[in-house]
Amino acid sequence: MTLCKIRSLSLSILALCAVGAPAAATERPWSLAVHGGSGVLERSELTPEKEKAYRAGLDAALEAGAKVLKAGGSSLDAVEAVVRTLEDNPLFNAGKGAVFTAEGRNELDASIMDGATLKAGAVAGVTRTRNPISLARAVMEKSPHVMLAREGADLFSKEQGLEQVEPGYFRTEERWKQLETWRKDHQAMLDPTHLFGTVGAVALDQAGHLAAATSTGGMTGKRWARVGDTPIIGAGTYARDGVCAVSATGSGEYFIRETAARQVCDRIAWKGEDVQTAADQTMASITKIGGDGGLIAMDGQGRPAFGMNDLGMYRGAISSTTPTPRTAIFSNESSPR
Ligand code: GLY
Repeated sequence: MTLCKIRSLSLSILALCAVGAPAAATERPWSLAVHGGSGVLERSELTPEKEKAYRAGLDAALEAGAKVLKAGGSSLDAVEAVVRTLEDNPLFNAGKGAVFTAEGRNELDASIMDGATLKAGAVAGVTRTRNPISLARAVMEKSPHVMLAREGADLFSKEQGLEQVEPGYFRTEERWKQLETWRKDHQAMLDPTHLFGTVGAVALDQAGHLAAATSTGGMTGKRWARVGDTPIIGAGTYARDGVCAVSATGSGEYFIRETAARQVCDRIAWKGEDVQTAADQTMASITKIGGDGGLIAMDGQGRPAFGMNDLGMYRGAISSTTPTPRTAIFSNESSPR
């Protein structure tokens, strides 16, 4: 073989390598933020064991979402994975561990939104789906609707082949005791035990798409098929590519009245506020009308923001630049950046 032929062969091999087997793809930026409810207890009331368990629950949820995003998966898959993890964790008021209605039932609400297409799905008052967030996603992807409620949503869930559980699956003794306390002490008022609940996630994937998801059992002692902000797109959940993604937690009636999740995004899009200012100003508007709680938000570049007017919010973040889970609970503790 002549020198010339050898040279042309090696060039062909090089060209083949360049086309058929590119060097390991560079990871593009991704980002994820989660919450496990607002309100929290006084620092002195949260035992070290419980605090550790909450932080471990948030870490596990962050890791589940990060695994999806790191591998190049979609923000929609990531927020669903995060929320499923928290729904399966009995510490949080969503899925297993949800609070009870006045009649002693668990009625679950959830929603999800895709920032790329503005498609959304939501369910309210479901009683038999192990992971209501996956049912919300099925509503978005497998039905022509945005929201299904109660028996109809339960039926759709079964038809879609989602995992069904006996209603007793959601029960925990701690939540039952909270209902008993509510029955003795509160009755009929909006009860502060909502302070222990709702979970959610916002994410930016490597393709630059945003998504948001939220799930809850609502508030202890809810009656008359009460529905909070969680399954209401624009109140408890919102996502729009290039602008922001939001998931809220707190006294849902007030988040509905202030269209909280959409408000954060509109403040960014129309007023040019940065994501933290938009989150803080939205929480200020909720405080003004008497509501309490918090929200997580993420801008189009994946910068997370945490806003709250309670003693705290179980929260965390992880990203391609800081790929270790970071969590915070109390309001006087710095939020992860
Ligand atoms: N934020 C949850 C609820 O009010 O139901």
